[in-house]
Amino acid sequence: MSVVIVVGAQWGDEGKGKVVDLFTERADVVVRYGGGANAGHTLVIEGKKLVTHLVPSGVLHPGKACVLGDGMVIDPHALLDEIAECQARGLLQQNELLIGLGAHVILPYHKLVDGLREDHGAKRGRAIGTTRRGIGPAYEMKAARRGIRVRDLLRPERLAALVASNLDDLAPVIQHLGGTAPSAQEIQGWITDALTAGEKLRKYTGDAGRHVDNAIKRGQHVLFEGAQGCLLDLDHGTYPYVTSSSTIAAGACQSAGIGPTMIDAVVGITKAYATRVGEGPFPTELHGEAGDKLRIAGGEFGATTGRPRRCGWLDLPALRMGVRLSGMKSLALTKLDVLCGMPEIQVCVAYKLDGKELDEPPTDPEDLARATPIYARQPGWGALPSDARDVSDLPAPARAYVETIERMAGVPFCLISVGPDRTETIRLHDPFV
Ligand code: GDP
Ligand code: IMO
Ligand code: MG
Repeated sequence: MSVVIVVGAQWGDEGKGKVVDLFTERADVVVRYGGGANAGHTLVIEGKKLVTHLVPSGVLHPGKACVLGDGMVIDPHALLDEIAECQARGLLQQNELLIGLGAHVILPYHKLVDGLREDHGAKRGRAIGTTRRGIGPAYEMKAARRGIRVRDLLRPERLAALVASNLDDLAPVIQHLGGTAPSAQEIQGWITDALTAGEKLRKYTGDAGRHVDNAIKRGQHVLFEGAQGCLLDLDHGTYPYVTSSSTIAAGACQSAGIGPTMIDAVVGITKAYATRVGEGPFPTELHGEAGDKLRIAGGEFGATTGRPRRCGWLDLPALRMGVRLSGMKSLALTKLDVLCGMPEIQVCVAYKLDGKELDEPPTDPEDLARATPIYARQPGWGALPSDARDVSDLPAPARAYVETIERMAGVPFCLISVGPDRTETIRLHDPFV
């Protein structure tokens, strides 16, 4: 098999960055699909940390092509900062980066509207808890066919006309939300900055879809890196508390512009517990001291915004939904070490709603907020050896926990992660065969 999609199976932050970095050893091309700088993917190698937001997490492997698919929404300044950070570390030295000309662009006014909407919504109890990176407004403009694409950054006249037309649309919205409509001078500054960024990015731009398709046809190994997670999917997640893109495996084809018949494997990533950032129902959430303990043990603070992540027990109905939505054939389990030292571990095996048992989350958000988790209890374990390289190296209760998840999710694990570092991994099955 040569074309593999890695996708978050929960509400994001499952450890996709670590897993993509590991799988990149066998890949020739790594493609980020969907979303933008709302993502934060952490890579830890020999204690040194790198957080990627837009650049694919294969970047630590020199010579691999890193592609940003057309379905992304790219903040050109954030991307330039990230490229500079990578280059300062000796990465991206050759022309390893390819930015899809069809990807949409996030400019300062997308972020302005995102932030104003959140503030306005918060006063009315209707905030989404977005990352304020302009994701929603950029995808809205795309759907309205008024978006600005990477290719437009390379055409000064077209860009100026598009920005002017965007701001004609948005000025009343900005004012309605309590902001000040930008002055002509401010708008001109944004255009000039975007053109300067476009010139710096020009050498990396190209036809991403053709490139990926050609690589597959040449028999190369291609790895798709999902951002966010299945439950944040615009169509199938916990709407409206979702992101604005297709985060499920199908989004990889959509974003990169390749057909679904090209895909050989889909690997879902799940933590040994659950987290969520921002608003929205989270039935297994632990409040108070129990949630704080898990947050501290897992270092659960946003890689993009630094916000404390909400923490709770593993939600198997939600995981099952992720497995179904993305057609996952295997899973990677991360952060098993974080549960060390807990006398007892709980895992949600079903929900109860109006006297009925449900094996997947109800699709209506109010029903989901009302549903009560049914928990199974399992004994905890003391420590995990960080040099565990096989399931047999794990203590018996940890093995039992792993087996419970596999059985109830209905798919086997291909990898178990017992620490943030590349080396702290039990590899069971290589998705590239
Ligand atoms: P992503 O968005 O899915 O790539 O995940 P994030 O990088 O936002 O969050 C995952 C966090 O968990 C990062 O800080 C990783 O370094 C860390 N991490 C990944 N796997 C493990 C693991 O097995 N154990 C521990 N303790 N940390 C891990
Ligand atoms: P990675 O790739 C966790 C969440 C936000 C918010 C909702 C909408 O690191 O897993 P947006 O800014 O996208 O409009 O916010 O989606 N969200 C994430 N949560 N990890 C992410 O990315 C996320 N990207 C967006 O917190 O609830
Ligand atoms: Mg993250």
